[in-house]
Order: sequence, then C-alpha cells, then structure tokens
Amino acid sequence: MMKVVSLALVASLVALPAVAADGAALYKEKTCNACHGPQGNKPLMPDYPKIAGQNAAYLERQMLDIKSGARNNANTAAMKGVMHLVSDDEIKVLAEYIATLAP
Ligand code: HEC
Repeated sequence: MMKVVSLALVASLVALPAVAADGAALYKEKTCNACHGPQGNKPLMPDYPKIAGQNAAYLERQMLDIKSGARNNANTAAMKGVMHLVSDDEIKVLAEYIATLAP
C-alpha cells in the first residue's frame, strides 16, 4: 500500500514540476507569504486564514471570488489589494501549489 502511494506521489511530481516550481515562486513574488506565512500555515494576523493543505478547487474558487468581489468579508479588503497582481491562470497554479503544503 505504501509503495503504491509513494509511486503515485512520484508520478504526480514528475508530471507537474513546472506547476510546483511556478507555484512556489509566485507565492513569494506576489507577496502571499507576507500575510499567510512562508508555508501558508502561519498567518500574519490571528484572524487571517491558514491556507496550507486546503483543497485546490476550494482555494481557487475563494481567490477568484475575492478577486471578483463575490466574496466580501470584513478582512477581504486586505487580500483583494493584491489580487490585481495575479491572473486567473496564476491563481490556478497557486491553488495547486498551496494544496500541496502541510497544514
Ligand atoms: C495583505 C495581506 C494578504 C496578502 C498579501 C494575501 N492575502 Fe490571502 N487572504 C488575506 C486575508 C485577510 C484573507 C481572508 C479574507 C476574508 O476574510 O474574506 C485571505 C484569504 C485568502 C484565501 C481564502 C482562504 C480560505 O480559507 O477561504 C486564499 C486561498 C488566499 N488568501 C491566498 C492568497 C494568495 C495565493 C496570495 C498571494 C497572491 C494572498 N492570499 C495574498 C490576506 C492576504
């Protein structure tokens, strides 16, 4: 069983090297690390979300909704301020990268 799991992991890492590298680079480049922590699990403020390890589709949807204004909570303004820096394609790459981080 472990062997199957690790083979699957290796296969996905081999298939997605560009996504992993781009995601990590984008995460720093676009200042995500400043508010969510270098690994996505140490937010700057106690009421900012820990994002590491969330489901990729969920992460992507939240970012798109924050960017479009469909999601608008008390803290959304802080996050919305950087969303003009990322394209929808970059949001997808970021979501896939953040989903791989340990919670
Ligand atoms: C200035 C601080 C700040 C920066 C920079 C920032 N965020 Fe956020 N982010 C927040 C806050 C605050 C929220 C919660 C918004 C709310 O309450 O609606 C949030 C929410 C999120 C969510 C939704 C989490 C959830 O559980 O619903 C994701 C995903 C996310 N940010 C990813 C990113 C990524 C990727 C970047 C870089 C492109 C980034 N953030 C940059 C502050 C920031």
